Amino acid sequence: MVGDPAKGEKVFAKCMACHTIEQGGANGIGPNLYGVAGDAIAEGRGGYAFSDALKAHKGVWDQATLDQWLSGPAKFAQGTKMTFAGLTSAQDRADVIAYLNSKGGKLSLGAAPAPAPAK
Ligand code: HEC
Repeated sequence: MVGDPAKGEKVFAKCMACHTIEQGGANGIGPNLYGVAGDAIAEGRGGYAFSDALKAHKGVWDQATLDQWLSGPAKFAQGTKMTFAGLTSAQDRADVIAYLNSKGGKLSLGAAPAPAPAK
């Protein structure tokens, strides 16, 4: 599913209680998320103390793993510290992943839908 980063920025309001996204932003309850898309799972992020549950997940945050994670963090990594129920809408997840990727990410996602022509 193709996401729209502009819509994803609005979805990201739900994440901002715990996360910053700008480059060099501070870690809070959750880690700063600049450049997380395409990066290693639970590594780096300015020395953020990840849970063992998430660290046990090796690999990279690609679109599929981010989608699974954001649909239900506790299901993806039982015992995770991310106490967030998840995003039920697949479109919201695609949008927020596109937004994450627009902030220093390395994934090649499909292009965002063209804006509706001006009337
Ligand atoms: C209630 C606080 C909270 C909310 C809300 C929250 N997160 Fe998190 N997030 C965390 C915590 C805590 C971690 C670390 C999890 C762990 O170590 O188990 C985390 C980890 C992550 C990671 C993994 C980072 C890495 O480097 O591996 C991503 C990606 C992420 N969150 C994205 C999101 C997005 C996108 C949203 C909004 C849709 C969101 N989070 C909402 C607290 C939160």
